[in-house]
Amino acid sequence: MGYPVTHSLSPLMHTFAFQHYDLDSLYVPFPVAPEHLAAAVVGALALGIYGFNVTIPHKETIMAHVDEMSAEARFIGAVNTVQIRDGRAIGHNTDGEGFLQPLRALSLTFTETLVCLLGAGGAARAIAMALLQSECPALVIVNRTYERGQRLVTVLQKHFPHAEIRAVPYEQAADVARGSTLIVNATSVGLHREDAVLLPDTCFRAGQIVYDIVYRPLDTPLLQAARRRGAKVVSGLDMLIGQGAEAFHLWTDLAFPVEAIRRVLEPFLHDVS
Ligand code: ATR
Repeated sequence: MGYPVTHSLSPLMHTFAFQHYDLDSLYVPFPVAPEHLAAAVVGALALGIYGFNVTIPHKETIMAHVDEMSAEARFIGAVNTVQIRDGRAIGHNTDGEGFLQPLRALSLTFTETLVCLLGAGGAARAIAMALLQSECPALVIVNRTYERGQRLVTVLQKHFPHAEIRAVPYEQAADVARGSTLIVNATSVGLHREDAVLLPDTCFRAGQIVYDIVYRPLDTPLLQAARRRGAKVVSGLDMLIGQGAEAFHLWTDLAFPVEAIRRVLEPFLHDVS
């Protein structure tokens, strides 16, 4: 449910997974106007469906209409997945877990990972929480609006008192990135061709992982530069599939066929300008 819900890759992804398991199920995009959200949730409960995803503009307002919320959704202050169990609607946020899945696939040792996180919006919040829950020892938030970065740090420090968490001004991004083993772009920079380059090439080296949550285009300038310099790269498509996998698991208890889904989605992202 979103408003609008055009251009979503989720119907493709989930319907493919249903077919993979030979389940007689569908994933359908519903444009739900804000004033109809409450009725839509009641309707979903009445229909007895597995659940649904929620996207803009409903991610926050949906919280008033679910019966329960996961700890992640409560911390992030947003729900992107609703699971219906025994006639109750449970709100989850799968962004953090979705973010981690590709890193787990790379066998990353989280307890030795020094993180440089660019951004302090909703996505950055989910990512920071996921990384700190995975016991990353140090996380530096670099945000264009320094004060917003600082505010996020204050909240994180309360929840994770043992981690070294700090915010630095945007001008220090390159220095912080050079000293990190995982660099994450959780800003919207890269979505447009004309966007400024986030970090100079000299920030990247072999042994680092550079992760961009932007998936349109699939290969952002940041990932291209990191790859050229020998770093491992993880794309926003990996996170998109990861959060879908987590939602699918909540609804069906089944695992996403990740590699097959990547092959299905990639052609839809290659030609985007
Ligand atoms: P989301 O919920 O997707 O994270 P958001 O809350 O709007 O979206 O956050 C967008 C993030 O991208 C913010 O960290 C924003 O920085 P500000 O807090 O300074 O606004 C960052 N961002 C957006 N455009 C940017 C740009 N041109 N340069 C640097 N950072 C940018």
